[in-house]
Amino acid sequence: MNWQIAIDGPASAGKSTIAKILASNLGYIYVDTGAMYRTVTLAVKRAHIDYNDESKVIELLDKINIDFEPDVSGQRVFLNHDDVTEEIRSNEITNNVSQVAAYADVRTDLVERQRQLAQEANIIMDGRDIGTTVLPLAQVKIFLVASVDERAQRRYKENMAKGMTANLETLKADIALRDYKDSHRAISPLIQADDAILVDTTGHSIEEVVTEITAIINDRQKK
Ligand code: CDP
Ligand code: CDP
Repeated sequence: MNWQIAIDGPASAGKSTIAKILASNLGYIYVDTGAMYRTVTLAVKRAHIDYNDESKVIELLDKINIDFEPDVSGQRVFLNHDDVTEEIRSNEITNNVSQVAAYADVRTDLVERQRQLAQEANIIMDGRDIGTTVLPLAQVKIFLVASVDERAQRRYKENMAKGMTANLETLKADIALRDYKDSHRAISPLIQADDAILVDTTGHSIEEVVTEITAIINDRQKK
């Protein structure tokens, strides 16, 4: 079996930042499953479908192709060959993605696509349900967390650097609401897998977290 590394955790815990660095260090393929849910949400918006209209959202799935291409900053995301890397990070998509991600048929469809990607190479995948549902046999499972205050601070700095408008209190409330929705949905909620290792990144730099997880991976690979 290929190597599979699953990184799950709440919003802005640092999953994608850490996963990209690990993938580059290890020469593994990185799959950002959050970007896939965001891309479906963008397709719903572009088709002028109400996010609450489950059957219309489901009908759209067959018309959605999602592709990733590596680039210097990590990777670019394409919706039907259109580069949507920046657009899927807009506030509107961020605030509606958890609604779309809660639909059973959306999850079944994307989980299938994610498992296909994992067939192809050694993989590092981040999301909410990778260790519990998508790749239950992953050799390494990390549950990455940080306090909600620190996660809001991180997102605030990131938005300011991108020139996006940001309000710290609003960001904190949005993150807490998304965590709540992701942890309380009926299907594949955000939950630590029994065999996942908890890594609390509060007060830790990116380098420190990379070092800690690299040691966990090295340890597993020796066995
Ligand atoms: O980067 P950020 O933490 O803001 O979120 P993301 O990883 O881009 O994921 C966006 C949303 O997609 C999450 O809030 C979940 O609602 C959903 N998601 C999911 O349900 N399952 C996954 N495996 C990944 C993301
Ligand atoms: O993917 P996820 O939503 O879990 O988080 P992310 O997008 O990787 O990280 C959110 C922000 O936190 C980014 O701007 C990272 O540079 C930053 N970060 C940090 O400051 N310290 C860490 N230990 C990890 C991430």
